[in-house]
Amino acid sequence: MASVDVVIMAAGKGTRMKSSIPKVLHRLAGRALLGHVVDTATRLAPRNIIVITGHQAEDVEGFIRAQPAAQSASALQCVRQQPQLGTGHAVQQAAPHLPEDGVTLILNGDVPLIQQNTLQALLADCAGTRLALLTVDMPDPSGYGRIVREGDAVQRIVEHKDATAAQRAIREIYTGVMAVPSARLKHWLSRLSNDNSQGEYYLTDIVQMAVADGATVVATKTADKVQVDGVNSPVQLAELERAWQQRNATRLLEQGVRLADPARIDVRGTLQCAADVEIDINCVFEGQVTLGEGVRIGAHCVVANAHIAAGAVVQPFCHIEGGKAAAEHVQVGAGAIIGPFARLRPGAQLAEEVHIGNFVEVKNSTLARGAKANHLAYLGDATVGERVNYGAGSITANYDGANKHRTVIGDDVHVGSNCVLIAPVTVGAGGTVGGGSTITKDTEPGALSVARGRQISIPNWKRPAKKAP
Ligand code: UD1
Ligand code: MG
Repeated sequence: MASVDVVIMAAGKGTRMKSSIPKVLHRLAGRALLGHVVDTATRLAPRNIIVITGHQAEDVEGFIRAQPAAQSASALQCVRQQPQLGTGHAVQQAAPHLPEDGVTLILNGDVPLIQQNTLQALLADCAGTRLALLTVDMPDPSGYGRIVREGDAVQRIVEHKDATAAQRAIREIYTGVMAVPSARLKHWLSRLSNDNSQGEYYLTDIVQMAVADGATVVATKTADKVQVDGVNSPVQLAELERAWQQRNATRLLEQGVRLADPARIDVRGTLQCAADVEIDINCVFEGQVTLGEGVRIGAHCVVANAHIAAGAVVQPFCHIEGGKAAAEHVQVGAGAIIGPFARLRPGAQLAEEVHIGNFVEVKNSTLARGAKANHLAYLGDATVGERVNYGAGSITANYDGANKHRTVIGDDVHVGSNCVLIAPVTVGAGGTVGGGSTITKDTEPGALSVARGRQISIPNWKRPAKKAP
């Protein structure tokens, strides 16, 4: 098979989004529209991926530069189209970067859900020599370019605005995706004119040129409208988001994940589940999340960049928010119980059987096996030993206003309620901290440490009484 060079068109304005963000950078399932297209293109292992930029080019080019394409064999680059004189003009800008021996695959930056196997079928139909158009039957084809055939043979594409009433009745439309031998494409592009109702250079005019030159034109028709739907407005973006979420939920169900309601889960990233995972309603998963065997996630949880080991239970209304970098991911050990209403922040690493209860916040802290913080507490920059019991209302004072410091709590420590551990500080293993203590100095293993005003009691104390008027 000939080498493939991909052109992704992303120079258009996207006026109907009514947004200051470039259209192709709006997000679907947590990833920019253009990111979805680049990912799918990358999976085809093409020689080059050329993104045509124009409107808000700096933003789009910045996004492309930040892509992990360095990990793939394909060269990813942007080419500017200034001004934007139509889709044919857009591809003309890429022409100098398209080697003559290859096939050019044209994609749209605002058609995010196109799939690899659909593109492979299109490339197979192109077979290095033919002009292959991806088409679909639209119930309402208005606005699209119509596929005009004579008998079965494709003759041309006529744009809606240039079409006759009879042509407008055609339901088969061009999706904006084609595969074409690059040498011939370049030849045809050089002959485009803008003599049409919009005064644009139409890429679609190459079809009639191909027919006139005796080249074979084939239409590869897809039945899956969602894959070729473009995003032009917030309504269309929301519709495609739902379509993607629904498909993803079905995929999870088919893998054996038990979703309380497949219409009420949102995955904005990747969610990997082992066997017998249960997810209750209205949960959101972001970034990279893995759930081990038998994990249960209660209703209304938001879980980002986290790895939750087998048998752990996350009760309703928890926010687990790992950072993007692997070191900042949240780790929850096997059999742990989290929540309800718990907050685990970047770098929270909980070992097996840890319990984190309601209104407890954990940040950049390691809790060893069996440690418990069950109510209203804060653990930041702390190393917590095995079986520690950390009392209600206790906090680590980890920040002195300028720097963060660590708190170390040894194995089997019991911290009473309402304690403040002022870091840097170490509570020795097996020690006990009396409720209400403010601990500023390291404590010996096994010691009882109490740091609060001594209690006094005055017998028979008479409360002040209101004076008579
Ligand atoms: C185009 C097709 C039409 C097809 C439809 C599918 C042409 C002439 N028409 O129409 O047959 O049914 O897509 O959605 O190709 N773009 C640029 N530079 C430009 C103009 C457009 O990069 O100068 C990009 C846009 O950002 C967009 C894509 O090309 O990603 C398609 O452009 P758009 O203006 O939406 O084309 P349509 O008129 O919808
Ligand atoms: Mg369009």
